[in-house]
Amino acid sequence: MRIIAVLNQKGGVGKTSTSVNLGAGLARQKQRVLLLDLDPQAHLTYSLGIMAHELPRTMGAVLMGECSLMDVLTDVNGMDVVGASVALAGTEVDLAGVANRETRLRDALADVEGYDFVVMDCPPNLGLLTLNAMTAATELLVPVQPEFLALQSLGKLMATVKTIQDGWNPALRLTGVLLTRYHRQKRLNRETRQSIKDYFGSALLDTTIRDNISLAEAPSFGQDIFTYKPGSNGADDYRNLALELLRRGAP
Ligand SMILES: Nc1ncnc2c1ncn2[C@@H]1O[C@H](COP(=O)(O)OP(=O)(O)OP(=O)(O)O)[C@@H](O)[C@H]1O
Ligand SMILES: [Mg+2]
Repeated sequence: MRIIAVLNQKGGVGKTSTSVNLGAGLARQKQRVLLLDLDPQAHLTYSLGIMAHELPRTMGAVLMGECSLMDVLTDVNGMDVVGASVALAGTEVDLAGVANRETRLRDALADVEGYDFVVMDCPPNLGLLTLNAMTAATELLVPVQPEFLALQSLGKLMATVKTIQDGWNPALRLTGVLLTRYHRQKRLNRETRQSIKDYFGSALLDTTIRDNISLAEAPSFGQDIFTYKPGSNGADDYRNLALELLRRGAP
């Protein structure tokens, strides 16, 4: 079971779009997928048309040990989803005071089986929820928008990853850095791509996600890109991402 945390503490770089559409892309390749929303903004949950406020229990209850992951699954387009709600922000505060606060998610995943991939959408910070994801994950996928300051936030992120590898999760691997909202015709985008390539080498994924209006529209319809616009560039790019991760195998 590959457990992938999609993270970058920088906001708006495409974490949620990547979690939703990578998950859906993998599901279309006959992979069994579990999606976890670890962000109190609950964007993944809403992007898939799940009404978070109608869910009796969400991610927060799992992290507080009130129920198991299997108790809170919603079935969407062939994927299992554990939704979040705004209450997760309170859970993060509560978590600070409990035992094993860094390994709550790993413990919750310990007896989960029957999936090929678990994909976790993280909030835009390096707080306790992201820490739980990094501790539970086998792999990291880091979406990056190729613009000014992208490299600076990557440096900080990699320092945090090193701390996790030195402590809670020595087996954690960086599967890839994924360029999102990419414009090949913009020089700054090409230059940033080259800088990231120089620094990360083969960890920079071959697939890039182009800027595509359908990707921005799909969440408002509560649909993944393959359901919303199967012929779009966005669907092509996320299909390629799913195929690349399958081809590369677990790192
Ligand atoms: N490739 C793309 N082309 C066009 N728009 C995109 C693309 N990827 C994401 N978007 C849009 O950009 C915005 C930010 O994307 P998204 O929510 O996936 O980022 P995020 O990193 O999860 O943000 P946050 O840090 O707030 O959680 C959204 O409105 C989304 O629809
Ligand atoms: Mg998000």
